[in-house]
Amino acid sequence: MGMTTATGNTGTTGSARDATAVAFSGVVKTYGEVRAVDGLDLTVRRGETVALLGRNGAGKSTTISMLLGLLPPTSGEVRLFGGTPERAVREGRIGAMLQDGRPIPRVTVRELVAFVAATYPKPMAVSEALALAGLETLAGQRVDKLSGGQTQRVRFAVALAGDPELVVLDEPTTALDVEGRRDFWRAMRACAGRGNTVVFSTHYLTEADENADRIVVVDRGRVVADGTGEAIKRTVGGALVSFDLADGPTDGLAELPGVTSLEIRGDRALLRSADSDATVLALARLGLVRGLQVAPASLEDAFLALTSSALEGAAAVGEGARR
Ligand SMILES: Nc1ncnc2c1ncn2[C@@H]1O[C@H](COP(=O)(O)OP(=O)(O)OP(=O)(O)O)[C@@H](O)[C@H]1O
Ligand SMILES: [Mg+2]
Repeated sequence: MGMTTATGNTGTTGSARDATAVAFSGVVKTYGEVRAVDGLDLTVRRGETVALLGRNGAGKSTTISMLLGLLPPTSGEVRLFGGTPERAVREGRIGAMLQDGRPIPRVTVRELVAFVAATYPKPMAVSEALALAGLETLAGQRVDKLSGGQTQRVRFAVALAGDPELVVLDEPTTALDVEGRRDFWRAMRACAGRGNTVVFSTHYLTEADENADRIVVVDRGRVVADGTGEAIKRTVGGALVSFDLADGPTDGLAELPGVTSLEIRGDRALLRSADSDATVLALARLGLVRGLQVAPASLEDAFLALTSSALEGAAAVGEGARR
């Protein structure tokens, strides 16, 4: 591999050889009986923005800690830019914002950001990092005397200060107000737009759908779905078809083409369908078209369907019985 110099963010110079930013293969992390990460395979290409989506305890933070080389996997392998996480971090290619706040020293916001920037080979201007995080007016303030949301902005500025090729953010918008969130995602997209790779975790499905090229749904330490928001919605069976029953019979509705489940709510029949065209055609043949509506499954629905089926599987095996 030879000597590696920190690669620029814009060009493909020196990077054409390897288009992969992050590669997890068969990664497992156990804490005693708990399999926090349970055989994770994940590849992130350079320039991609990927959301790790999962419930509390799904394994997102553990995954991120291993990605950053802060936690060794029990088994399996993590590679960043073709080398070890430690090397990528040492070379100043990674910027990160972790979930658990560290004790922050008694310095000003500007001093802290400048200090971190100086540890990178090609940092951005401190003023630029402060502006991206919306911290201009707080630059002279001490970092241990800020509100939760302001502290979160400082951590974001710290993650960006080195102008790293890969930015890793664990639940970055927690504690941010509406404006803070909007500014944050704008800055994040600008960062991705310069060709950087971004990996972030979230519980917010809309956030993942709106800000990531790709969503990786993690549950019980495994990838249960991986694709665009659209693809994930399709995977879980696409659409909700509903119509007015008008006292008609409900027999056979669940067996119509495409239908995966049936619910009767008052006077309306709600059919979940994996093929809404086929379902609607069948309903039309039966004359069941009064008040007919077809709505795409929401990402929330998709997420719940994915993680609840994983839950049922786990329940069947029994808590603690998993090897
Ligand atoms: N240091 C630790 N010791 C023991 N168990 C741990 C430790 N860290 C995490 N775990 C367990 O590993 C599992 C995954 O935790 P992790 O923090 O990765 O989840 P998460 O997806 O980040 O959740 P959240 O959305 O709540 O941040 C959980 O069951 C958690 O209890
Ligand atoms: Mg976490």
